[in-house]
Amino acid sequence: MSGGAFRVIEGGRSDEPTPGLLIVGAAEVVTMEGGIRAGERQGEVARYTAADVGGPTAADAPVVACWEGRVAAVGPRSAVERTLEGEGYPLGRFARLDAAGGTVTPGLIDPHTHLLFAGSREGELLLRQRGAGYLEILAAGGGILSTVAATRAATTEELLAHGRRWLDEMLGHGVTTVEAKSGYGLDLETEIRLVEVAHRLGVEGPVDIVPTYLGAHAVPPEFRARPDGSEAYVRSIVEEQLPGIAAHGRARFCDVFCEEGVFSADQSRRILKAAASFGLASRLHADELAPSGGAELAAELGAASADHLAAPSATGIDALAQAAADGRPVVATVLPATTWFLMKDQGAPARSFIERGIPVAIGTDFNPGTSPTASLPLAMTVACVELRMTPDEALCAVTINAARAVGLEDEIGSLEPGKAADLVIWRVPTSTQIPYWPAANLARIVIKRGRVVLDQG
Ligand code: NIG
Ligand code: FE
Repeated sequence: MSGGAFRVIEGGRSDEPTPGLLIVGAAEVVTMEGGIRAGERQGEVARYTAADVGGPTAADAPVVACWEGRVAAVGPRSAVERTLEGEGYPLGRFARLDAAGGTVTPGLIDPHTHLLFAGSREGELLLRQRGAGYLEILAAGGGILSTVAATRAATTEELLAHGRRWLDEMLGHGVTTVEAKSGYGLDLETEIRLVEVAHRLGVEGPVDIVPTYLGAHAVPPEFRARPDGSEAYVRSIVEEQLPGIAAHGRARFCDVFCEEGVFSADQSRRILKAAASFGLASRLHADELAPSGGAELAAELGAASADHLAAPSATGIDALAQAAADGRPVVATVLPATTWFLMKDQGAPARSFIERGIPVAIGTDFNPGTSPTASLPLAMTVACVELRMTPDEALCAVTINAARAVGLEDEIGSLEPGKAADLVIWRVPTSTQIPYWPAANLARIVIKRGRVVLDQG
């Protein structure tokens, strides 16, 4: 097996034997090889098209070979068979799977979800239709705070069951890795419980989970009553929650809701710097509703990802462009389902990000308030329609660039020898149709670590 040492990431079904797998009969294979994309390269998906060589069953039709959970070779069938033989793989031990004229892509990666919560908030849709603002509802004790109350009251078993139900939904839409934030506990005990549930769901598989600690999601009720509530809560995050989360050892990232009226850029900087001292990498909810210095802070700290960015300042965009030009890109993770669901006139300026050479990823932002959808393909559709991203740019944004946004670009996000064999066989012949049929369930077979984990017929 080529590839050398790779970080082991949790999840998958490593208890089962892993035979070789050869995926044949594809109309198209999108490899996304060649690292993260920005600027003009954002739309370079790297595809093999069967029609160019005589159709899905031709000798040179594109195939994907997996061995022991990893991609062994991708490309024209004759070349792949030669490579496998040359490298000593036992060809007879490759099970064949027929893609039936569908397209094959890397498994999708959702780089921004609030997977774990209790309850629902459909009443807020009505309130917003009647003119209430998102932060207004929060200030009145609703919004995030009503989900915090429900989540604190939920048992660990209930949170696990909720997580399984929505991960199933995500898997059904072709998603094989999910970033999952805490942030509906806002006290050490519940925040650890949320991170622990995320971790356990990843171990259970088949979807891999990247747990993120988001204690700075809102100021909790017990601090709101105090005149210095916001500052006191930031101190409790730095002095109590972060050491506890670090000792627990499961969270990989620290996130902050950096937004005027929630946590200031200065408070966010203090939290993220303290988190970094505990080994937690930074990501931010940045400039979702108003320019709040979030994009600037993300560039300053070298965050893995700056998310939302529906209202960045010109200097914020400059800072992200400069970071990308300097070779330390911060991924701009846009969340178009959120601006759509919040009925905003303006989504993130994705075209400016692309023009300025900033790599773009797309997430669902799955949560009960602003984006109650678990469908990453639907978020791709909205990115195409509202943000004017092309289908190829959107696919790149949910594969290799999303992998980078969660720090796993060496392991997932493209089909290249040595990388994890996480892939999807779709019901459509070309990946440009994935965002074209909104809300259709187009993922036919999902393969995680070289094994079929979902077959939707
Ligand atoms: O990313 N903006 C902050 N957090 C979430 C919403 C959380 C909620 O409303 O429950 C978001 O949109
Ligand atoms: Fe979010």
